[in-house]
Amino acid sequence: FKQETLTGRRVIITAGPTREAIDPVRYISNHSSGKMGYALAEAAVEAGADVTLISGPVNRETPDRVTRIDVTSARDMHRAVHESIEGCDIFISTAAVADYRPDTEANNKIKKDPDAADETLQLTLVRNPDIVASVAALEQKPFVVGFAAETCDVISYATDKLHRKKLDLIVANDVSDSSIGFNSDDNAVTVIGPDFEDTLPQTSKRQVARQLLDILAQRYHDWSEN
Ligand code: C5P
Repeated sequence: FKQETLTGRRVIITAGPTREAIDPVRYISNHSSGKMGYALAEAAVEAGADVTLISGPVNRETPDRVTRIDVTSARDMHRAVHESIEGCDIFISTAAVADYRPDTEANNKIKKDPDAADETLQLTLVRNPDIVASVAALEQKPFVVGFAAETCDVISYATDKLHRKKLDLIVANDVSDSSIGFNSDDNAVTVIGPDFEDTLPQTSKRQVARQLLDILAQRYHDWSEN
């Protein structure tokens, strides 16, 4: 099947979860496997792009011909993205970035207090930077693609994020269905742009990645001509 060429285009993809340290041995994170982002990196290489993958901690091999930058926290990812963004044509944000982090990282392992009458421990969380929105706000902005993993009202939440984060495209998927969710091998998605909606039926993440890349490349070329 046909793939719109991305020869010579610089594509940056974020993938995987982030980890937000509580103390030297504990963190807050999520179940993102990085599968979708890694599959997209492979498809983008097949389409001829020069691909940088900025990855949170996942247990995956780096696809051939992909430059991989490993990061841990959302703030690390934010920094790595902005250090690499110059000359980027397409930015694809598949990472499941933690929305909040503990306000401080304890220097030493937090201990239980055996004498405390109070059985609770309070953590204060603060907002992390929104990485994809920060890229979409750049003066020299690339074509920006976001993902929206939702458990209900998938299309309306995704459309809202498209506008709020000023994205060019958003890819919506319903993670309440475990056959197409975070750790599954399959996906089914709806691609939403300012004036269109395209639904891709359930298939392997690899096939979804190729189909997505076709749509994305076409929309990118239309966008860059205007
Ligand atoms: O978490 P949310 O549903 O808002 O994520 C939607 C999009 O925003 C995804 O593409 C995700 O990678 C991106 N995002 C980000 N930085 C954040 C939160 C989300 O880049 N702090």
